Amino acid sequence: MCGIVAYIGQRDAYPVVLKGLKRLEYRGYDSAGVAILNHGLHVYKKKGKVAQLEDFLTGKNMQSHIAIGHTRWATHGEPCDRNSHPHVSGDGKLAMIHNGIIENYALLKQELLNKGHQFESDTDTEVLIHFIEEIRNSNQCAVEEALRIALKRVVGAYVIVIVDEDNPDTLIAARKGSPLVIGVGKGEHFLASDASPIVEYTKEVVYVNDYEIAIVKADELILKNITNERQTPYIQKLDIELTAIEKGGFDHFMLKEIFEQPQTIFDSLRGRLDAKNGQLTLGGIREYTDVLANARRVIIVACGTSWHAGLVAEYMIEELCRVPVEVEYASEFRYRNPVVGPGDVIIAVSQSGETADTLVAMESAKAQGAIILGVCNVVGSSIARLSHAGVYTHAGPEIGVASTKAFTAQLAVLCLIGLKVAIEKGSISQQRFQHLLDELQDIPEKVGLALKLNEQIKQVAQKYKDARDFLYLGRGYNFPVALEGALKLKEISYIHAEGYPAAEMKHGPIALVDEQLPVVFVATRDSFYEKIVSNIQEIKARKGKVIAIVTEGDQIIPAMADDVIQVPEADELVSPIISVIPLQLLAYHIGVSKGYDVDKPRNLAKSVTVE
Ligand code: AGP
Ligand code: GLU
Repeated sequence: MCGIVAYIGQRDAYPVVLKGLKRLEYRGYDSAGVAILNHGLHVYKKKGKVAQLEDFLTGKNMQSHIAIGHTRWATHGEPCDRNSHPHVSGDGKLAMIHNGIIENYALLKQELLNKGHQFESDTDTEVLIHFIEEIRNSNQCAVEEALRIALKRVVGAYVIVIVDEDNPDTLIAARKGSPLVIGVGKGEHFLASDASPIVEYTKEVVYVNDYEIAIVKADELILKNITNERQTPYIQKLDIELTAIEKGGFDHFMLKEIFEQPQTIFDSLRGRLDAKNGQLTLGGIREYTDVLANARRVIIVACGTSWHAGLVAEYMIEELCRVPVEVEYASEFRYRNPVVGPGDVIIAVSQSGETADTLVAMESAKAQGAIILGVCNVVGSSIARLSHAGVYTHAGPEIGVASTKAFTAQLAVLCLIGLKVAIEKGSISQQRFQHLLDELQDIPEKVGLALKLNEQIKQVAQKYKDARDFLYLGRGYNFPVALEGALKLKEISYIHAEGYPAAEMKHGPIALVDEQLPVVFVATRDSFYEKIVSNIQEIKARKGKVIAIVTEGDQIIPAMADDVIQVPEADELVSPIISVIPLQLLAYHIGVSKGYDVDKPRNLAKSVTVE
């Protein structure tokens, strides 16, 4: 979810908003737009960079003392000019910018269509501004009252700002789940997603709370809650610098994104998982669940971390759906001239949605008649557009080159797909289905608990940061987690690390073991627990150093391991989402302790768009 900026006061508003949007570019986005009031409402919006919008507006009369601006990270409707923000009411008098997701937009849209509303975009946002307009007209009330009434029906996350042609001295804003900061100046106010567009003008800010509505004039700020009671704005002094703001107060984007995971996993489940009512909705693949259920074979194609997510999905889908699954490195699959065709379902997993190897693998499989499904983090990306259908991970822009939050969001979404297909196919019981829905629902909280291990993991990192090599071992669902932990370490600390199935050690790699070699075991309690205990003993017998990720309360492995990290208990099918957290933190802290740029590691690109 991207960026909003708004201004009202004595300055020329457009330059303030434009500069503010540039301050928010670090958050990643696909489109940008602005609206001003100057003898009426003027809206300008385009797919692409803020600089392209700026070029487009060069020479136009942008004079105004009120303006709103938006950088979009598409969730509903692919990136294009008409889906960009601001969106406008039917009468053309209201313009709104929005970050977040309106989960019940489809229902609201149908109601509005039935009342004659017409829409120009595919977005959930445009539905909301029409809904507000409909309430204003039918209740004959002020916009802020219509907004308050509308938000009582809205399900989802939002930060919104509205300008009204008939009230050019007022900005109206509201938030729930997405951030909104209001900078308080002298005779002026600044609104933004974080303080980075504000800090150069004022250090006095008000953090708007969930369910609060702000009515903002140049010299007045009124806060109300959703039950229309006045709230006292609590003005705080900003004490962090611009660069720190961009990283949310964290030292690196990678650490910020690791700590975002409770929220991003929640967002990947939002509007889809309803454990309380035993419901699971995946609109994106509605027409394909039976195709998956009856597939001759599922082939997952991906690269890097996404390939590890595919390996976890292999265990999930085979266990839940009883459909054969193969996981292929996209690059190998493409050039192997694979036997693939009708009856096969390809699942392409990709954060960027632009990885050339994965794209090309999909194209060759599609040409041979396979059904292509995409699990991507970027709406409207090439892989998403090439797919017959798919499910977006909604992890938000991932800035750190080493993938963290995208991986756990992929696991959550792939689990949803497996569960949806399995319950419709009848390959799992209603009881197991409900149990796993409950387990998934608890994951964001358990990931939050795992993140509390950060300081302990930082100490472990200090102890092993000078090792030349690492081994990462796991069994079953934890084997792909071991691979992912090894990749994370390689990527950002440049230490050689290998992931292996723990049972594979005796077939050669155990020759590597000596007192210099740290061996990380992903050994949470699962159906392989007794076996992994034996594997740990094999390593200890050869003086290897054992770092064990275990389920909290484990009494056996802590007595054997040199270092133990205890994570919350979870069903083995969803446990990879938790057990990967300490491995992300271990890699991060070792990389930082070695003084490397963990956000932009040497030799790496965030999206590998070359074969
Ligand atoms: C992950 O940490 C790496 N940066 C890399 O392996 C990445 O997962 C791979 O390039 C695939 O990218 P994608 O998910 O955008 O397709
Ligand atoms: N859901 C809205 C859209 O897809 C807002 C996305 C955002 O947060 O930028 O346009």
